[in-house]
Amino acid sequence: MKPGILVTRRLPSSVIARLEASCSLDLWTGREAIPREELLSRVAGKDALVCLLTDTVDAAVLDAAGPSLKVVANVAVGYNNIDVAACRARGVVATNTPDVLTNACADFTWGLILAVTRRLGEGERVVRAGKWQGWGLDYMLGMELRGKQLGIVGMGRIGQAVAEKAPAFGMRVVYSARRPVDLPGAEHMPLDRLLATSDVVSLHCPMTDETRHLIDQKALLRMKRTAYLINTARGPVVDEAALAWALREGRIAGAALDVYEREPIVHPDLLPLENVLLIPHLASATTETRTAMADLAVSNALAVLEGKPALTPV
Ligand code: DGY
Repeated sequence: MKPGILVTRRLPSSVIARLEASCSLDLWTGREAIPREELLSRVAGKDALVCLLTDTVDAAVLDAAGPSLKVVANVAVGYNNIDVAACRARGVVATNTPDVLTNACADFTWGLILAVTRRLGEGERVVRAGKWQGWGLDYMLGMELRGKQLGIVGMGRIGQAVAEKAPAFGMRVVYSARRPVDLPGAEHMPLDRLLATSDVVSLHCPMTDETRHLIDQKALLRMKRTAYLINTARGPVVDEAALAWALREGRIAGAALDVYEREPIVHPDLLPLENVLLIPHLASATTETRTAMADLAVSNALAVLEGKPALTPV
């Protein structure tokens, strides 16, 4: 009998075809995330679960699946939606999708850095609203990147890929991370010093108990008034209410967010602010990368079902 697999969102057809060849597939085809009740009932008796970062896979889901479940394969590099300890306790392998999205996320981070420091969101809104009154020498001035300092918080694969592109924009790189990395020209320093000296602070740390609200009011007050904050990591790393306050009061110059504390809800205090760029969690959203992520998640699931080690266990 083919193993049963629940996939919680539509995946590219080439990836689905791989699953259909060797599994009995239960596919949630809704455009929105699978409702919790549906997840709990459909996972029962499955051998594998391929899920997305929008699905909370906790002890209740694992218990609903029962002892047949062998693998939870997340289609994301971040896996704060999965209770990994609960998986381990039940002998379930949890996997993620590192590497394949590194370049897309690093490119995207630079897109945000350029967009917020050059006020592209504001500019676009003015043009669309028919409010642009013509070219002006001092109109909507932004900040030049050349000669400025980029502070990277969390120097994993994506942080390093962002750092590697910094010389193209003439920025020097400093970073805070648990351990120094071998990246010529990048200076390792404590977070407080990074915040106090950087012109752009970009977050690339995982979401853990330690990093929840790492950027709170105190951290924002340490930043230069002329500095920008970029978050492509996870929403809860930043205290959104404190950020809205800092942006409103001019305690920092601007921010660009791809992720939010309660996606898809955005803190209402952020919405009216001109100096924040708000993007709907798109860092890895290229056709190539999303296909590669789905493919890797499915390879992980199939490997475990075949009794082999997962390619990228967490
Ligand atoms: C991830 O994979 O964790 C990203 O947030 C997806 O865009």
